[in-house]
Amino acid sequence: MNSGLEDVIAAQTVLSDVDGKNGRLIVRGRSLDELVSRSRYEDVLALLFGGFFAEADDLTRALGQARVAVFAHVAAADSALLALPPVDAMRALLARLGDGEDRDTALQLVAGPAVFTTALLRLRAGQAPLAPDASLTHAADTLRMLHGALPSPQQTAALDRYLVTVADHGLNASTFAARVVASTKAGLASSVLAALSALKGPLHGGAPGPVLDMLDGVGTPANARAWLEAALDGGDRLMGFGHRVYRVRDPRADALKGAVRLLASSGAIDPKRLALAEAVEAAALAVLRERKPERALDTNVEFYTALLLEALGFPRDAFTCVFAMGRTGGWIAHAREQAETGRLIRPMSVYIGPQPQQAA
Ligand code: ACO
Repeated sequence: MNSGLEDVIAAQTVLSDVDGKNGRLIVRGRSLDELVSRSRYEDVLALLFGGFFAEADDLTRALGQARVAVFAHVAAADSALLALPPVDAMRALLARLGDGEDRDTALQLVAGPAVFTTALLRLRAGQAPLAPDASLTHAADTLRMLHGALPSPQQTAALDRYLVTVADHGLNASTFAARVVASTKAGLASSVLAALSALKGPLHGGAPGPVLDMLDGVGTPANARAWLEAALDGGDRLMGFGHRVYRVRDPRADALKGAVRLLASSGAIDPKRLALAEAVEAAALAVLRERKPERALDTNVEFYTALLLEALGFPRDAFTCVFAMGRTGGWIAHAREQAETGRLIRPMSVYIGPQPQQAA
């Protein structure tokens, strides 16, 4: 029995393929390279939703209107919610959206993480939440709702690249959770909430915040190796490295490293920060190779995510919320696919507990 279900095939999908041996990701017939080079998040959303929902004449506008519609729920953010970690507070607001299977429900669930996260972060900082602007793209409006000013084209392009890169990724833990819930026909909101709950763990989408903690702990490039070795000696895992499926470098790491370099060249990232990250990455790969020669452990998506989202002004405890902004599109498409073509997911367990005492 593989308790992590590795090598178990639990679904057929037309949505994405993760080729772990060759380090390739395909989303509906497009390679990741092709997608990130010329797509906005809305383009990937259209690709993922194709055939599962009625096509929108103007998806950018429809998603913008969905942001406007869900903004009403921001009023429910009270002091108890603001005391929670952003991902938990955002999940609570998202839970206010009812279940349904139609395109409007789907778009509101995609809009929710961006609208709720930015509003919660502003409220936490003592600022008034900003209402969405339906005429902007999702990435541009998200950054505007966060900072109160229109982002530069480079900042918008960087967030688009991030959202596109993480939009879908095979049967990862959160997507599997979405499909399990969808298989019971519970509805899209229930699937998304289950997936978000799986995403927040540090072994999945909760890693990029700790990546920055690691960079802060290391401090200087010269200290990288000693710090990382001490962390491993203490039994820690190095955040941003290793993957269940990839046996080579996660292609998303390079897609995001490219975006980080672009931001650095426009002055949005301190070159010293980038140099520190590159030194930590090189030292981590070397140390992991020495310590785990039998298991190829390489950089995963979360490492450069951390630098990218930091440069865009998201606080590190909200990074998982930004991951959810992108991945919600994938979760919803998988949930629809499961509900339309799959069966109730109901695996078996092996009972290893005690047997009842025989009656005397
Ligand atoms: N640092 C140190 N050791 C590691 C790391 C790491 N990042 N990743 C794996 N290992 C070790 C494991 O401890 C294990 O050692 P052992 O056999 O002595 O116990 C060995 O390498 C093999 O581990 P795997 O079976 O390949 O790991 P698994 O598939 O269970 O875990 C995971 C994959 C959870 C991503 C793991 O690599 C990890 O914890 N990474 C750090 C957290 C992280 O970056 N998460 C984000 C992943 S990307 C995403 O979900 C979006």
